[in-house]
Amino acid sequence: MEKVIIVFAFMLFAARSGWCETATPPLVVDFYNGLCSDIDVEATVGSVIASLYEQDPTIAAALLRLQFHDCFVRGCDASILIDGHDTEKTSPSNRMVRGFDVIEAAKSSLEAICPGVVSCADIIIMATRDAVSLAGGERYTVQTGRRDGTVSVAADVKTPAASISVTDSIKVFGDKGLTPTDMVYLLGAHTIGVARCSTFEDRLYNFSNTGEPDPTMDPTLRATLIDSCPRDITTDEDTVDLDQDPSSSSIVDSSYFKQILLNRGILQIDQELALDQWTQPIVNAIVQRSDFATRFGEAMVKLGAVEVLTGEQGQVRQFCNRIIEQQK
Ligand code: HEM
Ligand SMILES: *[C@@H]1O[C@H](CO)[C@@H](O)[C@H](O)[C@H]1NC(C)=O
Repeated sequence: MEKVIIVFAFMLFAARSGWCETATPPLVVDFYNGLCSDIDVEATVGSVIASLYEQDPTIAAALLRLQFHDCFVRGCDASILIDGHDTEKTSPSNRMVRGFDVIEAAKSSLEAICPGVVSCADIIIMATRDAVSLAGGERYTVQTGRRDGTVSVAADVKTPAASISVTDSIKVFGDKGLTPTDMVYLLGAHTIGVARCSTFEDRLYNFSNTGEPDPTMDPTLRATLIDSCPRDITTDEDTVDLDQDPSSSSIVDSSYFKQILLNRGILQIDQELALDQWTQPIVNAIVQRSDFATRFGEAMVKLGAVEVLTGEQGQVRQFCNRIIEQQK
């Protein structure tokens, strides 16, 4: 009896401490190969995303932001998709996060042909990759094998605000195992999508309570933004493109970095990236090199590996917006 207890206690220790290597296998490329007989899981997601993108190309920006906000809160475990009181979705930081229906559409296509196998966490990653390539980015190879989390709490949401300093942002990304270079590439996601006036209005009218506009903003840009964002009267519908090159504001390319070097960043953090002593050289290098597309994909893969659940951890949900209650 005593022996049994000791062995049991040891197993508990081994599992808890992650000492048992097999308890959390790594993510792999093509995890689903052979798990749904001859069905190609990634191609199934790809065709759903292609048809939704055709109807609404802004889903690319939605999915990029969705992956970021999922991965930064309890890891890439689809916890952002769960409905309910005080779940992550209800946090003010997630107010404008969109694309939940896109993930649910891909999930239901998969459930119809291969039930209970493909996690929502992996669908977010595959769908975002597909949307990035449809939006002109490079089609990068994703890793899969994530499991879905069962916990989603609004108070856990601490995704950075537009006014975060570069130094603090480097810390926040560092806590997730991402380097300053990863961070700069990932902020390149702001090469598509929009921001509400309220997220940068202070830069137009009263920057850091100085009563003056942000002196780092190109005055021509400010003049245009004032038209789109009249002081104190804007709503959630008043938005502007994060990439202010109109020929490229829906294309995943390096033009965001060119714009911030011209002092045409929209969010405070966007502009600071081009001015900060640590990140400015990275921004310069991105504009000079021609491999943004490849490196952005690599950074997305790293983002997709943050604090993932694998193996026996978590579960595979049936519907992405609710967890499966475990039998006690
Ligand atoms: C310090 C880091 C970051 C900050 C402070 C930040 C902040 C913001 C803010 C304030 C908005 C506008 C939201 C609104 O109007 O309510 C936004 C939009 C967006 N963010 Fe970020 N972001 C960061 C990093 C990232 C990363 C890493 C990604 C993806 C890899 C990303 C992707 C996007 C996209 C695509 C949009 C446009 C969304 C849409 O059009 O619906 N952001 N971000
Ligand atoms: C700027 O904002 C601060 C704090 O909200 C406020 O006290 C100040 O009056 C504002 N200045 C102007 C010129 O609006």
